[in-house]
Amino acid sequence: MSIQQPKGHWFWGNTKQFASNTLGFVQDCMANYSGVCYAKIGFKNFYLPLNAVLADHVLRQNNKSYKKSFAYAGLKVFLGNGLLTNEGQEWLAQRRLIQPAFYKESISKLTDLMLKETQEMIAQWKVEKEFSLTHHINTLTRNIITKAIFGKDLEGNKALEALPHILASFRQYGNDKMKNLLKLPLWMPTASNRQFKTHFRTFKALLSEAIAQRKQSPEKYQDILALFIQLEDEEGNRMNEQQVFDEIATLFIAGQETTSNALQFAFYLLATHHEVKTKVKQSIVKGGEEATKLVDACSKESLRLYPPAWAISREAINDDVLGQVKVKKGDTVFVPIYAFHRDPSQWEQADIFIPERFLEEYPKKYYLPFGTGPRFCIGNHFAMQEMNIVIAEVLKQLDIRLISPTKLSFTTLMTLAPKEEIRLALV
Ligand code: HEM
Repeated sequence: MSIQQPKGHWFWGNTKQFASNTLGFVQDCMANYSGVCYAKIGFKNFYLPLNAVLADHVLRQNNKSYKKSFAYAGLKVFLGNGLLTNEGQEWLAQRRLIQPAFYKESISKLTDLMLKETQEMIAQWKVEKEFSLTHHINTLTRNIITKAIFGKDLEGNKALEALPHILASFRQYGNDKMKNLLKLPLWMPTASNRQFKTHFRTFKALLSEAIAQRKQSPEKYQDILALFIQLEDEEGNRMNEQQVFDEIATLFIAGQETTSNALQFAFYLLATHHEVKTKVKQSIVKGGEEATKLVDACSKESLRLYPPAWAISREAINDDVLGQVKVKKGDTVFVPIYAFHRDPSQWEQADIFIPERFLEEYPKKYYLPFGTGPRFCIGNHFAMQEMNIVIAEVLKQLDIRLISPTKLSFTTLMTLAPKEEIRLALV
């Protein structure tokens, strides 16, 4: 069978097309080919599975033939052996240990925290009347995850003031690493690398202090950090300080930006779809189960149109056959979630914001905002609960309209994110 590959440059392959219009590129692959499509990107062999059976083969059925791809290499530098970047038996043991902290019942204990933080944000919006949604949602999601992890412990702590900069520099570092994979040279001693090291040390010191406090008087603390210190496996082993550090850093990196982007997209969609927004608002005012379901459908629909984890990539650790295509050890398989979510053969009016579609049967195998298989997002209940609480509370209290941008543009590095700040005003 001849390999399906979008026409590219003799030397660069498809690198430039991919880098200049990433979402368009994966959507074109989905529209023009079926089965598996090959692309040469950054001198690497990429295979794109273009249907749910093939994606499921890589991420679930035959997941043992794959590991996280080179795209996670930059993250590994500072997330070490945290859940997102770990592999094999060690990953499995950690996942089993940590999983209960992220069950729906455990996360529901964070409801009051999420609501209180949202109400504080709304109070700010009422004062400002016209504001940067991007700034406020970034602050909100950062406050929620920080307080879920550290409890009230960090209030008034100087290092907390540094946290926004620490996280921004982690994000910058991860994004820089990913960008550099697409161009030469692969490594440069950039200012952001130097800044990253300073922030990394501050973060480590902050965490060490918090761990020491919890070890001294464990009864005082009921946050995620306290729980992580006390977790024991079947043989009574606990995580050492390095493991705790890696897992906590991972929660910040995997959980904050993704949820922030998801909420920004959701409010952008609501602010630009007057009828949907009015219907959801009216339903919230009435209350009851229908309102809960409709808000949840809004969150799901915005994650469909703008999935922050817009692609999942893996590297083959042995030769495999994907459909009828041979994938060699070392090759990259790239599941284009964004294109799955907008595939017109699966979704009616695929590009239109219709939350109600999630009140009925929908093509679940073509809906992968949190991935699938054993590496499925551990924070999915956390994220969905947070999105639903924030959307419901904002629409209950306020009406919003869009100021800018009139047309969304995106960055597609570690996550799918709005390129420009989104600004809203109260109606
Ligand atoms: C809307 C928000 C979120 C989205 C779209 C999202 C998406 C994803 C996806 C697609 C994966 C799988 C990656 C892969 O298979 O390579 C993943 C993994 C992960 N996510 Fe999330 N996530 C979100 C929120 C969160 C939150 C709030 C947390 C924690 C508080 C979190 C923690 C993690 C962790 C630790 C992993 C690695 C799991 C493992 O490999 O065992 N995520 N996420």
